[in-house]
Amino acid sequence: MHAASIHDTVAFLRERFTRAPHAVLVLGSGLGEMANDIEDAVRIPFSDIPGFPRRTQELAGHAGQLVAGRLEGVEVAAMQGRFHLYEGWQPADVALPVRALSALGAETMLLTNAAGGIRPGFQPGDLMLMADHINMMFRNPLIGQTVPGEERFPDMSDPYDSGFRRIAEEVARELRIPLVQGVYAAMLGPSYETPAEIRMLARLGADAVGMSTVPEVLVARAIGMKCLGISCITNLAAGLGGERLSHDEVMEVGARVRHRLAALVRGVLPRVAGLNRASEAAE
Ligand code: HPA
Repeated sequence: MHAASIHDTVAFLRERFTRAPHAVLVLGSGLGEMANDIEDAVRIPFSDIPGFPRRTQELAGHAGQLVAGRLEGVEVAAMQGRFHLYEGWQPADVALPVRALSALGAETMLLTNAAGGIRPGFQPGDLMLMADHINMMFRNPLIGQTVPGEERFPDMSDPYDSGFRRIAEEVARELRIPLVQGVYAAMLGPSYETPAEIRMLARLGADAVGMSTVPEVLVARAIGMKCLGISCITNLAAGLGGERLSHDEVMEVGARVRHRLAALVRGVLPRVAGLNRASEAAE
């Protein structure tokens, strides 16, 4: 993305938002409902935002609006729906909202996604804290000219902030929500994987597989934003459950667990925001 086109996005959002967002929430397939609880909300359809990719086709469950306001006392900007590479968008398109919201002041990003479970024992409805990822999309939004303020060669040794992960584990314990850490493999999609591909991913060390999140996280890390990712295991990955995979099943399971996921995100949000502020004060 070139600095000139992001400028319009930032100027537009600055005018519409009443306050600067501290945290970005990226809410995945069927998991966007928590954006309805945002207080003093300003809701802007993606299609109204200059520079945002324009959709020609809505996929069920991907509502597609930006909701800015307060959640658990934290100023947030929630992406209710996201842009996927499989829709044909370029990596820079997928990354644009992250860049724009960072320019408006966001320092933290919490991402959710639907994923297929690879690790033995995973069941539909389980929540997995993303400990790390494997980029099997072989695309990177950082390719090309370096955007001012972004690192050319960002360190990726702690993509999902370890301090944030400790907080998420604490909150999950307090709320008695089962949460395990695992590695997310990102595929381009949109076809689900073959059983052979799932066996390959298992051997490579992946615990879950999905089609999102990694492009956003790559840009966030280049900017220096801290990330936390939570995968909702909506199905057993291909060949592991014996059943055909369907988007309907993914949406159904998402609907079943979204309350737990929302409770977790809402519990984590003020604490990670507080942690960021505390580390700024110490600098
Ligand atoms: N594979 C890829 N993406 C997914 C899956 C899956 O099994 N489930 C939900 N998103």
